[in-house]
Amino acid sequence: DNSVQVGEYVSQLIKKRILDYLKQRKDNRPFVLGLPTGSSPLPVYKRLVEMHKAGEISFQDVVTFNMDEYVGLDRDHSFSYHYFMWTNFFNHIDIKKENVHILNGMAGDHVQECADYEAKIKSFGGIDLFLGGMGVDGHIAFNEPCSSLQSRTRIKTLTKDTIIVNSRFFENISQVPTQALTVGVGTIMDSKEVVLIVTGHSKAMALYKTIEEGVSHIWTASAIQMHQKAMIVCDEDATDEL
Ligand code: GLP
Repeated sequence: DNSVQVGEYVSQLIKKRILDYLKQRKDNRPFVLGLPTGSSPLPVYKRLVEMHKAGEISFQDVVTFNMDEYVGLDRDHSFSYHYFMWTNFFNHIDIKKENVHILNGMAGDHVQECADYEAKIKSFGGIDLFLGGMGVDGHIAFNEPCSSLQSRTRIKTLTKDTIIVNSRFFENISQVPTQALTVGVGTIMDSKEVVLIVTGHSKAMALYKTIEEGVSHIWTASAIQMHQKAMIVCDEDATDEL
């Protein structure tokens, strides 16, 4: 019905996937989790923290890769995705610092930074579960409309629409960076499982385009129609156009 219930469902799913994986693994490979920022996953992070505090789940054997980061914001900047992730999630769980991976938006060589990120993901044997949100224009991570569906981690220029929508997290719109480093649609598609959170009426058209029309590089989240194991968890308001 609502974003809190979506958060409950998704957090239970993540807990189950991690516990099931650790129970059956035959070596020391950790569970590899892809994570988003934004308001949509906040109820999930809140519940996972509660579950951790209640002793239901540990993140000692979990490695994370975040989807994206703004270009030009230092990791300690209060509007950076680094800061968002540490304040809302990582600071409150037992994850090892070296197991957290977030693109460096201050990297001098963006091309190298993105290539290293892809290589790092591969070195862990890929991502087991990629959790994502969705922009009102159907973007996934920062794969704006017209992104190649084969794209890998790279720099993207943000659309004016995204800058306007994301300005709610900043003091004013002029502070919103115009570029970001982001995993590609191809990077997300390579993960073993994809779970997208879609909540609120503002996402209704994007949800319709993602699942009821064809795969399109304009609504990049629609690529998940081609994924072998993908799930959308949405609330009632997001289904308004279905
Ligand atoms: C940003 C992020 C996306 C996120 C989207 C939606 O553009 N790069 O990863 O899915 O915002 O955010 P929200 O969940 O706040 O609507």
